[in-house]
Amino acid sequence: MGKLVPFLFTSLGVATVFSFFLLYSPFPSQFTPKQGFDSVQNQQHLDQDNDHNNVLPKPQHHQDHDQNIIHPKHQMSKFPKQPSFLFSIILHFSFHFHLLKIKYFMFCSVEESCDLFTGHWVQQLRRSMYTNSSCATIPDSKNCFKNGRKDNEFLNWRWKPNECELPRFDPKAFLEMVRGKKMAFIGDSVSRNHMESLLCLLSPEETPKDIYKDSEDRFRTWYFPLHDFTLMTLWSKYLIVGEERMVNGTGSSIFDLQLDKVDNGWAKHLPEIDYAIISDGHWFFRVMYLHQGNNLTGCVYCGKPNVTDYNVSFAIRMAFRTALSHINSCKNCKGLVTLLRTFAPAHFENGAWNTGGYCNRTSPKSEAEIDLGSSDLEMRSIQVEEIERARKGGEKQGKRFGVVDITRAMLMRPDGHPGAHWGNQWMKGYNDCVHWCMPGPVDYWNDLLMAVIRKESGLDS
Ligand SMILES: *[C@@H]1O[C@H](CO)[C@@H](O)[C@H](O)[C@H]1NC(C)=O
Ligand SMILES: *[C@@H]1O[C@H](CO)[C@@H](O)[C@H](O)[C@H]1NC(C)=O
Ligand SMILES: *[C@@H]1O[C@H](CO)[C@@H](O)[C@H](O)[C@H]1NC(C)=O
Ligand SMILES: *[C@@H]1O[C@H](CO)[C@@H](O)[C@H](O)[C@H]1NC(C)=O
Ligand SMILES: *[C@@H]1O[C@H](CO)[C@@H](O)[C@H](O)[C@H]1NC(C)=O
Ligand SMILES: *[C@@H]1O[C@H](CO)[C@@H](O)[C@H](O)[C@H]1NC(C)=O
Repeated sequence: MGKLVPFLFTSLGVATVFSFFLLYSPFPSQFTPKQGFDSVQNQQHLDQDNDHNNVLPKPQHHQDHDQNIIHPKHQMSKFPKQPSFLFSIILHFSFHFHLLKIKYFMFCSVEESCDLFTGHWVQQLRRSMYTNSSCATIPDSKNCFKNGRKDNEFLNWRWKPNECELPRFDPKAFLEMVRGKKMAFIGDSVSRNHMESLLCLLSPEETPKDIYKDSEDRFRTWYFPLHDFTLMTLWSKYLIVGEERMVNGTGSSIFDLQLDKVDNGWAKHLPEIDYAIISDGHWFFRVMYLHQGNNLTGCVYCGKPNVTDYNVSFAIRMAFRTALSHINSCKNCKGLVTLLRTFAPAHFENGAWNTGGYCNRTSPKSEAEIDLGSSDLEMRSIQVEEIERARKGGEKQGKRFGVVDITRAMLMRPDGHPGAHWGNQWMKGYNDCVHWCMPGPVDYWNDLLMAVIRKESGLDS
């Protein structure tokens, strides 16, 4: 907000000083504040939207200031071709006034008026930006069509924020935006899923080089030489240190978490990263012993009478708090932008993953059908609260934080998972209702990611 105030004052000043000139202007109405924002284009979007908006609730009325597309050139062309000297001075200043206004409104439209994350899915026929033949990097486990998924109606839904339009992912513009930068997806296999979707969305524009892969394929780096862009995936189940207890050489599914120690597997890479996209959540539903220093603080789901019982929310909160405060205290992480991708809900019906649960729906749920009291939304709120806390602590350190808030939108997409079509011969009969088919609604996470990064870089200037 700090940067906004001078702009407002300057534009107000300019407006006042020149307002009397405007009385003599042949086109006084060109200078009224609303003029720059009657974007025809936006109206078309909405009309088009209404045509397809035939299943889920209609969007609310849109507001004047939710315009994302502003055309200074278009506005200028309304002025006379050969202005007088006096008029050219007015023109000059009013043009600046317009620029200031544009800056102001871009700021507002993104920061205040449009919540990209509250909306609904509207049915709309549209081609996916990639297929399992155009994108060579779709992992088999998410290649649902290859694994026998027959329905494809689930591809024909578009996320519609209530107050504005979500621009479609644009690989060319994205790669320009991140030229010379390093981006890391930090988290579990759902984080990996998000990164894989981004790889496919970028594939029409540039084929990256696969420059690093560890023995378990948990850390991987891709490089886009034409854009000097590096994309990494850094594996971390908990963001903090979390070790599985081994019993006779096999995993016990019981974890020891060190609430006050960040997982250095990802954290050591921070100084080289420009954009960190962090997420996690699904591993927090196991039996966990929680430690601080050498003390056992308590546990989750351990059921031991002499150990303090904590809930999943507590463990998640502490893990994110530790991870984010580590980011805030990183001395060599100048200009780091941290984006939290909020918890992605699973959709097992009639059972859990190991008790016959399945997810074979073929269309989204409506807003009315989702459970607003679900634990998915509680996980999301905790994560958002922790990022807000970090943002407050990070302003002085020049760190920036943002949210890619997908939880509500994805609660409505039980149709987006592989279900039985994840091609795992060893685990036939088990359904994958946690990861997401590619192509599929997971691709929207990158539409949102792009919009959020755009906003972040807008604040930068
Ligand atoms: C793509 O999906 C089709 C089914 O829609 C399948 O027959 C084909 O094998 C898949 N191709 C690849 C390369 O995965
Ligand atoms: C571990 O192995 C030992 C010896 O083979 C056996 O006695 C013990 O019961 C095993 N423990 C568990 C938890 O399986
Ligand atoms: C561990 O417990 C001791 C004794 O209660 C306490 O003094 C110490 O501060 C605790 N350490 C941590 C890291 O919480
Ligand atoms: C809890 O009790 C068990 C035995 O019943 C003991 O082995 C363990 O050390 C105790 N844990 C704590 C934190 O006191
Ligand atoms: C989890 O525990 C915290 C305190 O540790 C409490 O504030 C919160 O309400 C609990 N959440 C649930 C869902 O029980
Ligand atoms: C989904 O799977 C369940 C259990 O296999 C089955 O009873 C149901 O008919 C399936 N629904 C659809 C829409 O295929």
